[in-house]
Amino acid sequence: MPIKPVKKALFPVAGLGTRFLPATKALPKEMLPVVDKPLIQYALEEARDAGIEQFIFVTGRGKGAMEDHFDHAVELELALTERGKDDDLKIVLDCSPPPGQLTYVRQQQPLGLGHAVWCGKNYIGDEPFAVLSADDVILANPGCLKQMIETYSEVGGNVVAVEEVPREQTNRYGVLDIESDDGKLARAKGLVEKPDPAVAPSTLSIIGRYILQPQVMNHLDKHEKGAGGEIQLTDAMAATIGEIDFHGMRFDGKRFDCGTKHGFIEANIAFALSRDDMRDSVSEILKEYT
Ligand code: UTP
Repeated sequence: MPIKPVKKALFPVAGLGTRFLPATKALPKEMLPVVDKPLIQYALEEARDAGIEQFIFVTGRGKGAMEDHFDHAVELELALTERGKDDDLKIVLDCSPPPGQLTYVRQQQPLGLGHAVWCGKNYIGDEPFAVLSADDVILANPGCLKQMIETYSEVGGNVVAVEEVPREQTNRYGVLDIESDDGKLARAKGLVEKPDPAVAPSTLSIIGRYILQPQVMNHLDKHEKGAGGEIQLTDAMAATIGEIDFHGMRFDGKRFDCGTKHGFIEANIAFALSRDDMRDSVSEILKEYT
């Protein structure tokens, strides 16, 4: 069967973000900035650079700031134009994808990542699609999704980004039960969501980047609850193994788990140090604290 290209990406952004309270009481977690750009914009740009043409946001109540962020800010654009601030104007205009490429769908209750993905089902139809979690910000060139799409164009099926985690952390991730592994690409014969370290089948863990076939939605249709009482994407992906090849791809780059405070702070430091306009001054500041 020919491998269909990936042109749609789904962004689950309906979670409560409780680990960042009180910051996330009125502000969506996905709008927290790493240096000067919201988490969700890193994810959107990574998708855009990978050739994605349809961006589907699964949002919830209180997430309106994201819709405003990707819309025109008419007064601001006018003010910047009048003041001749062309560079700032370009930054503002570059935020938004072209008209018609953005769709918002609501997940009325945060029942889990699998449920959030299922909420986008009608917009996915029978095409393969990417899922990007804005929590995982990845410093990589080319971007992680672009690397995955290259691999996907060779192997097809379901492809997720993976990395090794310390064994004591397997209970935070979906973990691969590995059939074969060439050091870059691991083929899985099973998946377990948040296994206890003592029984985890490996330490190769799924991070927030997925390329999935639409059949995954058929399993999400069942709304079965898994680990933590949530509808888990991992369980639906696991159910397709046998019917659809499943590969975990190790990517070149560094991932920051911005769903945690430590990961978020580390991301801010790493991204600042990666920028020519900030490296020296931030290094100086860091010296004061070490
Ligand atoms: P998390 O597991 O980090 O949950 O979701 P959360 O609610 O955002 O954060 P905490 O744990 O309360 O601090 C990972 C991603 O999946 C989305 C979140 O918005 C986040 O981008 N998500 C999660 C949904 O869209 N819906 C859900 O039901 C659960």
